[in-house]
Amino acid sequence: MGTDVNVQPGHGKAGRQPTRQFLDTLSGHDDPGMFGRMFPTLEPLAVDDGPLHELADAMKDPVPGDPAGNNANVPAGFTYLGQFVDHDITLDLTSFGDKEADPMAVENFRTPALDLDSVYGLGPDGSRHLYARNSASDNGKTPGPKLLIGKTVNVDSITGDHRNDLPRSPEGFALIGDHRNDENLLVAQTHLAMLKFHNKVCDQLAASGKPPGEIFEEARRIVTWHYQWIVLHDFVERITEKGLVAKILEQGRRFYRFKKTPYMPVEFSAAVYRLGHSMVRQVYSHNRIFTPGPGGLTPATLDLLFRFTGLSGGIIGDLAPNPIQPPLPLPVLSSNWIIDWRRFYAVLPSNPPGVALNSSRKIDPFVVPQLHTLPGDGGSLPFRNLKRGVLLGLPSGQDVAKAMKIKNPLTPAEISKGSDGAVAKKHGLHEHTPLWYYILKEAEQRGSGERLGPVGATLLAEVFVGLVHGDHQSYLWVKGKNWKPTLPSQVPGEFTMADLLRFVGDISPIDGISTV
Ligand code: HEM
Repeated sequence: MGTDVNVQPGHGKAGRQPTRQFLDTLSGHDDPGMFGRMFPTLEPLAVDDGPLHELADAMKDPVPGDPAGNNANVPAGFTYLGQFVDHDITLDLTSFGDKEADPMAVENFRTPALDLDSVYGLGPDGSRHLYARNSASDNGKTPGPKLLIGKTVNVDSITGDHRNDLPRSPEGFALIGDHRNDENLLVAQTHLAMLKFHNKVCDQLAASGKPPGEIFEEARRIVTWHYQWIVLHDFVERITEKGLVAKILEQGRRFYRFKKTPYMPVEFSAAVYRLGHSMVRQVYSHNRIFTPGPGGLTPATLDLLFRFTGLSGGIIGDLAPNPIQPPLPLPVLSSNWIIDWRRFYAVLPSNPPGVALNSSRKIDPFVVPQLHTLPGDGGSLPFRNLKRGVLLGLPSGQDVAKAMKIKNPLTPAEISKGSDGAVAKKHGLHEHTPLWYYILKEAEQRGSGERLGPVGATLLAEVFVGLVHGDHQSYLWVKGKNWKPTLPSQVPGEFTMADLLRFVGDISPIDGISTV
């Protein structure tokens, strides 16, 4: 079939995939190591490549620009927060030594956690290249507590001291804890917001008189706990159900269980959390220049957003000549590509005319055409997801729903709905449905495409709650479920991505808007 599903252009090659044989040796959720199964006793669903290809093709969004496919409940920034989170939990940079010692990751493995190791690496001592010089102490001989921020180069008369790119080596490679966050501009700018968030917290702590030697650890704790809160309450509850996290904390996790150490369930990594692929838009309004709106030069297509990163070589003019811009004098982002956050999160009560808030696409079985032809022989992402599910021996959606005792699982008639459903039915997949497809269909049929249905919502929320709970540095572990965010927020006791961006400032640097 010509597609090597072991090559991963989308999230780099870093995400490790366990083998089916390896998973078969695991005892389910008895602290299996890095990977495991939530439903170890369920039969795998075997499907041939032919039907998988046909189903994947039927998942091509026929009208990717149709406003009916927009998810008014989820601004587009969350798609890339979701990708940022994926990179935080699927590759653990703090444990390279352990990984080498134990390549199958059965023992000795640091667990998947929402701990921002993609931002902090091994900390100021272990990952010096990520940190700014410490000017406050030791004459700048030591790194930290602040993280490095990169500069942009002025184009289109957009001048000023723009510190709005990821820090980069002279070769243009991003100096960050996880290179996958330089894979497209939106995840890169999300990473940059996290760097600035940490630095702003450092400034606050310094201003409050915190001794310099204590600032880094305290800032890291504050940043990580607020980020964990955002993931659970602003992201997970937004795409599932308000109050679900508290309910799970109250009643306990029923399906994602471990004795001491969280593991990465394949039902989550190969199916449920790939829901993000259906949220991706083909075209964005990025800022006042790259927008389909009036006065814009050209829309920010997915293609351009992938081009303006270090991984594609697009910001390195001589490596990848591009249609929009002549080669830049330095391998850094050009100032006209700095994000306008008002277009990605509801940072203002309402945007001024001409500043459109991008919605993500609905969580449904449709994926924009661009992701059906990944660059570099990556093939079709929907096919890869379906095939990965088979390779990993995932059970059908129906079997999972039954094991979870879901009261109203999707019926074959519901799964057969639509042009995609007709193809599923043709191959009998409306009765035995690949888990990833089931989750998306369930969101379409039960959540109006705005949120997940019962199987998807429960599994997503349980895994995220478990990942935070099982991390002994997390707010849930250290302080318990009654901890509340401490940084300024619009609603007291809450903290959202919009709050984070307002706290950081730099709302739209190319418009000179720093605070709201
Ligand atoms: C922006 C465009 C994106 C592209 C081009 C992309 C591409 C890819 C590719 C090629 C893979 C590996 C497929 C395989 O062979 O198994 C993958 C895996 C994955 N993606 Fe994405 N992705 C994107 C966005 C997202 C988003 C927004 C999310 C979640 C919110 C997400 C979640 C995942 C997960 C959970 C995996 C499995 C990771 C692992 O097991 O290590 N992706 N993606």
